[in-house]
Amino acid sequence: RRFLQSLGRVTLVTILASGGAFYYVTQRERHPGTQLPFDPSKKTVVVLGSGWGSTSFIKNLDMSEYNVIVVSPRNFFLFTPLLPSVAVGTIDSKSILTPIRYVTRHKPRQVVVIEADAKSVDPVAKTVTLADETEVQGAVSTTTINYDYLVYAVGAETQTFGIPGVKEHACFMKEIQDAETMRRRFMDCVESAGFPGQSPEEIDRLLHMVVVGGGPTGVEVSGEIHDFLEDDLKSWYPELAEHIKITLVEALPSVLPMFSKSLIEYTESTFKESKIDVLTKTMVKEVKPKSVVLQMPDKSIKEVPVGMVVWAGGNKPRDISVDLMKKMSEAQTNRRGISVDECLRMQGTDGSIFALGDCTASSYAPTAQVAAQQGAYLARAFGQMAHRDRITAELAAAQTAGDNEQAQTLQKQLSRYDRLRPFHYSHQGSLAYIGSDRAIADIMFFNFTIASSGVATYLFWRSAYISTLFSLRNRVLVANDWLKTRIFGRDLARD
Ligand code: FAD
Ligand code: NAI
Repeated sequence: RRFLQSLGRVTLVTILASGGAFYYVTQRERHPGTQLPFDPSKKTVVVLGSGWGSTSFIKNLDMSEYNVIVVSPRNFFLFTPLLPSVAVGTIDSKSILTPIRYVTRHKPRQVVVIEADAKSVDPVAKTVTLADETEVQGAVSTTTINYDYLVYAVGAETQTFGIPGVKEHACFMKEIQDAETMRRRFMDCVESAGFPGQSPEEIDRLLHMVVVGGGPTGVEVSGEIHDFLEDDLKSWYPELAEHIKITLVEALPSVLPMFSKSLIEYTESTFKESKIDVLTKTMVKEVKPKSVVLQMPDKSIKEVPVGMVVWAGGNKPRDISVDLMKKMSEAQTNRRGISVDECLRMQGTDGSIFALGDCTASSYAPTAQVAAQQGAYLARAFGQMAHRDRITAELAAAQTAGDNEQAQTLQKQLSRYDRLRPFHYSHQGSLAYIGSDRAIADIMFFNFTIASSGVATYLFWRSAYISTLFSLRNRVLVANDWLKTRIFGRDLARD
């Protein structure tokens, strides 16, 4: 009886605790409290972008010292590592998006969020000109805003090297719309291949999927297409699945040059098993509506019929970044992106513009890991700058009042806050999914890199990404999508 009584007590406490936690989470998540209004005596920070760098900055910034305005053409944060999974319908697109207001409305001071493209930055007048370029616009759709500090984190766009036909005929894998477009086009190819009377050559063409770029994006996309084929299409389109062919084209001698040699070999052998053709030392020279033109390793030219081309050729700076760099052409000479100093201040400016993430050209790889750490670093640096400004003002007041003792104490304090500590990147390792429930990982252990691959690494990949997802809401949605796919398979509807 005593056992039953204590079991009852434990059950009651568990129910009450979960009920309380549930109530707290739903109230906190769904009904953020009132915020302090803008304070005209504080400095204004304009943040461009709602990606990895800017969101990490906003999340970590102490708002008591600044007024913040966020400008981004999309009103959400996109969890890019799971984008290839969205492209084949393993995960629903909304599951990896977090509306940026879910972050800003939880800050103690009001943050203004403007859905707009920043069109130009004037570093002398310290202004940014914005334009609402969405389908629906109000009577006012352009404006210019002032900043004291600009946090510039607009990311990069996909590098096409001006290769003819890429923009017109290939799908990209950068934005959420790209993943949705790829999924739609892929299903369109499959359905068109099933149209009555299609010749065998045309079926083969429609079902030939070419992925260009053997970096992590191209590899992950190839792996996901393979999973879709194996797990679902073979069951629902048995007459067509046999004809589906995936080719990965890479200009360099191997795929994934940033991973350990053993992981490159593992990926290549897994792809061989999965019947994904890997063409290395092969360059795409042109993309046509129904074919791609390849320059083969022996420099011969070959035209290959295709149904869909996915272009993952790397990054290049956005036009607005190129334009901004031109305004400081002496200091900004790196064509890969914006040059910054060790504290992320844009070279050639008076220290009021900070740039981070993929828009910069630094010794770090353009990854989410780097951008997120830079955002968190910058938030701490802004805290330090606010302290410095406060002490400087107090020092001026003490000097005016002739209070030498106080002035000396403040001078000492000021020397502690005056110099910003440089940004230090801590590499946690690299992870990539390669299909067939396998992943590869270069994991950092103290100063050593441990290369790991296979199914256990895949489980690690999943747990790592579910834990780095932005919010509890996203974690629940993604876990639910994985379960749904496991039970019912991927959705075939071409929406
Ligand atoms: P982004 O996150 O790209 O954010 C840029 C922001 O600026 C966006 O909100 C955009 O809308 C906004 N913007 C664009 N133009 C303007 C404008 N004119 N005005 C105002 N705002 C503008 N990295 C990893 O470390 N691990 C991974 O597993 C990984 N997987 C990836 C998978 C894919 C498919 C891709 C494409 C990338 C992946 N990356 C990964 C790389 C990672 O996504 C980027 O390095 C990261 O997004 C860079 O962050 P960012 O803040 O610089 O730019
Ligand atoms: P990338 O720059 O890493 O790779 C692009 C590849 O395309 C290059 O290897 C290049 O040689 C090849 N290429 C370019 N033009 C070509 C052509 N005409 N023909 C054939 N091949 C061509 O770009 P990616 O994969 O988009 O990654 C961008 C950044 O995002 C990288 O820093 C990467 O580390 C990061 N990322 C990380 C992921 C992860 O950690 N899992 C996943 C995806 C991206």
